[in-house]
Amino acid sequence: MREIRFDSFGGPEVLTLHHDAPVPEPGPEEVLVQVGFAGLNPLDYKIRDGSSGRAKDLALPAGTGREMAGTVIGAGSGLDEAELGSRGLTVGTRVFGMRGPSDSRGVAAEVIAISADDLAPIPGETAEEDLPRWAGLALVGLTAIAAVQDTARIAEHETVLVHGGTGGVGQLLIPMALEAGASQVLATGRAANAERIRELGATPIPYDTSDWGEEVQRLTDGRGVDVVLDTHYHSTFLPSLDQLADGGRIVALPSLADLSPALERGIEARVPSIVPGRDRLDRLAQGIRSGRYPLEVSEVLPLAQIAEAHRRLEEGHTRGKLVLDVRA
Ligand SMILES: NC(=O)c1ccc[n+]([C@@H]2O[C@H](COP(=O)([O-])OP(=O)(O)OC[C@H]3O[C@@H](n4cnc5c(N)ncnc54)[C@H](OP(=O)(O)O)[C@@H]3O)[C@@H](O)[C@H]2O)c1
Repeated sequence: MREIRFDSFGGPEVLTLHHDAPVPEPGPEEVLVQVGFAGLNPLDYKIRDGSSGRAKDLALPAGTGREMAGTVIGAGSGLDEAELGSRGLTVGTRVFGMRGPSDSRGVAAEVIAISADDLAPIPGETAEEDLPRWAGLALVGLTAIAAVQDTARIAEHETVLVHGGTGGVGQLLIPMALEAGASQVLATGRAANAERIRELGATPIPYDTSDWGEEVQRLTDGRGVDVVLDTHYHSTFLPSLDQLADGGRIVALPSLADLSPALERGIEARVPSIVPGRDRLDRLAQGIRSGRYPLEVSEVLPLAQIAEAHRRLEEGHTRGKLVLDVRA
C-alpha cells in the first residue's frame, strides 16, 4: 500500500511516498481503516521538523498526519463483531478520528490500524465529496473543545477575542464560544477573510488593514475582552495582554507558548491539552450534522503532494482545513 513516512527530521522534502508499505496488523483493541482523506495540521510540520515537544521521543522512521476519515475494513482480536457493533464501528462503517500525537504511526497511508477509542462513526448518509470535512475535524475539534470548555471555561455573557478566526481551530472556536454563551465574539484575520469571520458569527477585525488593538477597544467601549483565544501567538500574545478586561484570561494555542509575560502580570494564561474521547468526537459529529460547526475545507491535495501541502501549511494562513486525498 502507499504510505508517507520520514526517516529524519527536516524540511518538507523528508516526507517520502512509499508504494510498497506493508498493510499494518491491528493490535487487539485496534480497528483497521481504509483511509479516504487525511487532515493536515501545524502539528504535522512541527513533528516533521523536530520542533514539537512531541518529536523528542518519536521513533523514526515515522508516519505523518493525525486526523482522518475512512471506512472500517477489519479489527483486532479483542474486538469481535458484537463489540464493534456496540461501538457502531462494524466493517463498512464510515468513521473519522484522531491518532494520539506521540504515536509514531501517521494516518497518511491507504490503510491504518488505530485504537477503536480514537474513532467515531460518521452519522447518517455521507456523500463522498463531504468526506474531506470529516477528515479535517477531529484534531481541531478536540482542540477547540479543550480551549473553550476545559481551559478558558467561557461562561454566559462573556466577551471573547479569537486571533486567527478562519484557521482550522479558529473556525470552530468562534461557534463554540457562541454556543458557550459568549455575548460578543471578535476575531482577527486578514481583511480578505472578514466575510468568512462574519458568517461564523463573529465581528471581524482585519489585522492587515487596521490597528487591531484599537479596534478591540472601540468595539468593547474601552473595556477590553474577558477572554482571548490566541491561535497565532507570535505577534499577538504580548499586545493581547493589554486588551483584557479586569480579571481577563488568555489561552495560547501553540504548545510551546511562553506564558511568563502574562503570569508575571498576574494574568491567568494557559495552553489547552486535547482530551480524547468518544463523547467529544460524537459531539463534533452532531455539530457538523446540525450545521452548528461549519468547518470549511479550502483545499484537497493528492497524497503525492504532501511536501507542497506542508509548505502551504507553514505559511500560516490556511483557511479552514487543508486535506490530503489518500486515494489519489
Ligand atoms: N495545544 C494544542 O493541543 C493544539 C492543538 C491544535 C493546534 N494547536 C496550535 O494552534 C495553532 C493554530 O492551529 P490551526 O490549525 O488553527 O492553524 P492554521 O489553520 O494554520 O491557521 C492559522 C491562522 O493564523 C492566522 N494568522 C496568521 N497571522 C496572523 C496574525 N498576525 N494575527 C492574527 N492571526 C493570524 C491565520 O489567519 P489569516 O489567514 O487571516 O492571516 C489563520 O487563521 C498552531 O500553532 C497549532 O500548532 C495547538
